[in-house]
Amino acid sequence: MDKDTLMDKITSLAKRRGFIYQGSEIYGGLAGTWDYGPLGVALKNNIKDSWRKTFVSSQLDMYEVDAAILMHPGVWKASGHVDTFTDPLVECTKCKRRFRQDILKIPGICDDCGSPVTEPRQFNMMFSTKIGAVEDSAATVYLRPETAQGMFVNFKNVVDSFHPKLPFGMAQIGKAFRNEITPRDFIFRVREFEQMEIEYFVRPELWQESFEKFRTTMLSWMGSMGIAMDRVHELEVAEGDLAHYSKRTIDFEFDFPFGRKELYGLAYRTDFDLTSHKLDCVDEETAQKIVPHVIEPSFGVDRTVLALLTSAYTEDTTEVDKEPRVYLKFAPSVAPVVCAVSPLLKNKKELTDKAEQLFAILKKEFGNVMYDDNGNIGKRYRRQDEIGTPYCIVVDFDTLGENPDLLGTVTVRDRDTGTQQRIAVSELVNFLKKSLI
Ligand code: GAP
Repeated sequence: MDKDTLMDKITSLAKRRGFIYQGSEIYGGLAGTWDYGPLGVALKNNIKDSWRKTFVSSQLDMYEVDAAILMHPGVWKASGHVDTFTDPLVECTKCKRRFRQDILKIPGICDDCGSPVTEPRQFNMMFSTKIGAVEDSAATVYLRPETAQGMFVNFKNVVDSFHPKLPFGMAQIGKAFRNEITPRDFIFRVREFEQMEIEYFVRPELWQESFEKFRTTMLSWMGSMGIAMDRVHELEVAEGDLAHYSKRTIDFEFDFPFGRKELYGLAYRTDFDLTSHKLDCVDEETAQKIVPHVIEPSFGVDRTVLALLTSAYTEDTTEVDKEPRVYLKFAPSVAPVVCAVSPLLKNKKELTDKAEQLFAILKKEFGNVMYDDNGNIGKRYRRQDEIGTPYCIVVDFDTLGENPDLLGTVTVRDRDTGTQQRIAVSELVNFLKKSLI
């Protein structure tokens, strides 16, 4: 399948089935913004829960914060973003469309109409707004372009409240905003997105050890989420391409349908930020003041969603003369719906009563469970396959005791293989829990 077709299929499935909608769609859309529907929210929550579990709550030395999106302009001056967070902007001399110079298909030529473009000028990507009622320049503030600074500015607060020993880390999940010149590729490059970031504070001489540890943990977390690891590549960023704060960066790139692009980053930020904000702490071991160095694993939630959608999208064409069976082979732990419960027939009260009862139990236990009695069983399976539900549970006459040997059992159908097995209702919660690990 060619790359445009695959992206079209994924984008249309995401919209049709309630994962992701164009932002402000009924007003013609707002470029670079996307709204997440119920299944998209569930998928993002599973990603964030898994990240938090791996990188924060299972660790003894991590402190999570939730800082304000609007931050004092001094933060962005000190961080270097006011002066250097820019992209080279060019404008077509004919159609006046604007582009990022470095991603033009043919250097110097407009992607749209083929005319020459202007010389580049540096365009700052931070969104600014005014705070308070008085319209003057002193009241200009920025929406944060990275969550990282929310952690640096709270470094002293966390040190004073918790007295952590080095090494320790701070973590944050939250929105970030960038006025991208050319938002593109669905949710890959957008103007409002979500990040999951860690700032890990270490003694300067030990930075390599922590860098390596995070490198391997990031890779194993990606694998555990169901990201296709044969499409993940590590890129050692060349010295000339490093961000202004970094001495070493590895980009974890992913083979998206539109090409190999950055999924996550792992940076050695040295003491750049703490020094810029004039921050330090006391090293308990030496009782001396120290400016710790920083290792920063940085993850985009939206790019994770896209990597998971493209890793999971599968078309099964084994049934000849039939439309291919489309399914999202999400790992059960990230699937937005854990299982769907159905009565075999929707007009048989004894079946629907039992199915509703079972649904209530599973809903209470797992939250993201669906009740589906629309159309025939085959259609229900197809609908659940398309949203990546790992198991469809059907209450049938055997559940009620038509065959005494099968009394109290249900059919559990596996999304990937299509195989069915009978499982005792009393065992269902355990069965599903095991699959979610
Ligand atoms: N604090 C470091 C930092 O922000 P970055 O490489 O600019 O580094 C980190 O961004 C991650 O945020 C990226 O690897 C990507 O996953 C995500 N990201 C960055 N810009 C994005 C955009 N315009 N749209 C969606 N995700 C983006």
